[in-house]
Amino acid sequence: MPQTRFADVRRFGSIDSTNRYLIEEARAGAPEGVVAVADHQTAGRGRLGRSWEAPAGANLLLSVLLRPAIGPGERHLATTTVALAALDAIGVVEPRTATDVSIKWPNDLVESSGRKLAGVLAEADLVSAVAAGVLQPPVVVGIGVNVNWPATDADLPPELVGLAVSLRQMIGVPVDREALLAALLAALEPRAADLDSVAGRARLAEDMATHCSTMGTRVRVDLPDGSFEGTATGISPEGHLVVTTGKATRTVVAGDVVHVRPGS
Ligand code: BTN
Repeated sequence: MPQTRFADVRRFGSIDSTNRYLIEEARAGAPEGVVAVADHQTAGRGRLGRSWEAPAGANLLLSVLLRPAIGPGERHLATTTVALAALDAIGVVEPRTATDVSIKWPNDLVESSGRKLAGVLAEADLVSAVAAGVLQPPVVVGIGVNVNWPATDADLPPELVGLAVSLRQMIGVPVDREALLAALLAALEPRAADLDSVAGRARLAEDMATHCSTMGTRVRVDLPDGSFEGTATGISPEGHLVVTTGKATRTVVAGDVVHVRPGS
């Protein structure tokens, strides 16, 4: 995308993982803004050590390298930045779907029935930070958007039917991946700029709250050391989920969460 920090777009027919690639580039000193886009990944990474799979040439698979001057407590806002930019881009390219797509905290784009349209995975390069003796590591944020796959539910493995959806399914016609990529990188510039100021970070958290379908719902939060239930009532200035349990208010940090699911 010319005239933005995201001008260096590196394209791959096939690569193991665009996140892995950019983490290595970050270690080698690559500047903020490098983008890696793949037609296909052979070892795409998802959250919680899962894999992320899509057939070649169908979906948007990309990662961006950010070097935000933010502390560890605010790092989740890097994920928020990319999730909001993707939402912005979908609104530009396919306005018919815009009101139908929201963010399920911490990092999924979902359509109104809850099926997942996109996932975001941020990986901080702590090795670089330790080597450089700094507290602000580069962050690689990857996103996989189901653009044209699945074309129908018949394309999905049975365990994903009802859980995943594509833009093509939502609209009924194939969607232009290149247009979505261009719109996403354009939307990313102002969103990434917001990471650089206190007011901008507050705006990211507010916009997240506005577009987050988890707000106001009953949730059960599974943490590595136990779970609790409450109502999601806000997004903290750091991008964390605020859950009111009746007696108290707890702030849930994305990195600690195993699952946030509808509560009983
Ligand atoms: C999730 O589990 O919801 C996050 C999925 C993130 C997938 C994307 S695809 C492009 C980038 N490269 C990867 O290896 N993963 C991310």
